[in-house]
Amino acid sequence: MSAVLADCRPQAAPPIAVVLLGTGVVGGALLKLLDTPAASSLRLVGAANSRHQQTDPRRLAQRNLREQLRGEGDARDDAALFAALEASGAPVRAIIDATASASLAQRHAQWLAQGYHVITANKALAGGALDGWRALQAALGDGVRYGDAATVGAGLPVLSTLRRLRRCGDSLLTLEGVFSGSLSYLFNQYDGSRPFSALLAQARELGYTEPDPRSDLSGEDVARKLLILARHAGFALGSDEVEVESLVPPALRELDTAGFLERLAELDAPLAERHAQARARGNVLRFLARLNQRGRARVGLVEVPPTHPAARLYGTDNQFALTTTRYNTQPLVIQGPGAGPEVTAQALLGDVLALAPQG
Ligand SMILES: NC(=O)c1ccc[n+]([C@@H]2O[C@H](COP(=O)([O-])OP(=O)(O)OC[C@H]3O[C@@H](n4cnc5c(N)ncnc54)[C@H](OP(=O)(O)O)[C@@H]3O)[C@@H](O)[C@H]2O)c1
Repeated sequence: MSAVLADCRPQAAPPIAVVLLGTGVVGGALLKLLDTPAASSLRLVGAANSRHQQTDPRRLAQRNLREQLRGEGDARDDAALFAALEASGAPVRAIIDATASASLAQRHAQWLAQGYHVITANKALAGGALDGWRALQAALGDGVRYGDAATVGAGLPVLSTLRRLRRCGDSLLTLEGVFSGSLSYLFNQYDGSRPFSALLAQARELGYTEPDPRSDLSGEDVARKLLILARHAGFALGSDEVEVESLVPPALRELDTAGFLERLAELDAPLAERHAQARARGNVLRFLARLNQRGRARVGLVEVPPTHPAARLYGTDNQFALTTTRYNTQPLVIQGPGAGPEVTAQALLGDVLALAPQG
């Protein structure tokens, strides 16, 4: 752990105390970053997974904290984590949510109201029901911040750009792009030469999809990101106002993960047909999110010509094309790796470091 974590002698409180919720792929990558000089102004005072937590400074300083929490630690109790934040004496106190838990996300507004900054990779509040988004907006202000860079594009400067444009009086007219690293990879690779299911199985092995690939293929994660962006742009859309085309056939939706993986080949015929039709017209398939000027939001598979910006993506790249009042001849395009634990953890760290009092 960093110098601040490793030295348990009494010392001046560093300016920022943090509690980390979630020590999975992203939380684990963040723990590694906390061990670097870039994080020397942070003190980790609590960490938790879904079953265990730790607030003992000596345990928190151990390099195998993530592994330890899998098998031991105190029982989960938010109050004890917050007590550790209070006891830190740090002038800035933040809760980092590196989970996908909807029930934790529902508490973000309450934490902000209690005076804690919230830094999140969890999209379930801002990209969930409109009531939750409104509660979040109402809880902001009074010096508390909501760090959300990791929720869209894994920290690509999308939300920050949108906010800056709005501060300058520019308005989003339309938005289009590829918001999922796994769906980007799948359709950048899919050329009809081998079944889609084989490509999907390979992408899953490479860690490019969720363990249950239906989380990606359903389009729901992309829809949440589109909602977050649309709401930041001033469109108060409800979650039922995004039209979502799922790539999972109805017969495969209710199966358990193992049952779904056994029947992957059922994805092949419909996608092969869509691909053949697109190719006959000289086009390619991309899984696009779109928001038009009237606030109509749609997520699904689209045929685009080879000259379309999304046709020229590589790997797991995300792309966000923003047409605004001032960027109206050509869109402002933000593109780059939009998934991955390291860049997502870095987005969380960046949002935490931005809380430091400016001297
Ligand atoms: N992976 C990426 O590249 C990426 C990119 C951008 C954004 N994200 C977002 O980042 C978040 C985390 O993703 P991940 O890939 O790290 O997921 P993950 O590997 O499944 O880890 C999730 C972690 O959250 C913990 N957790 C669940 N409920 C909790 C609770 N009530 N209290 C405390 N901890 C709880 C889990 O605990 P257990 O270990 O006990 O189950 C686990 O440690 C998600 O919202 C995801 O959408 C991920």
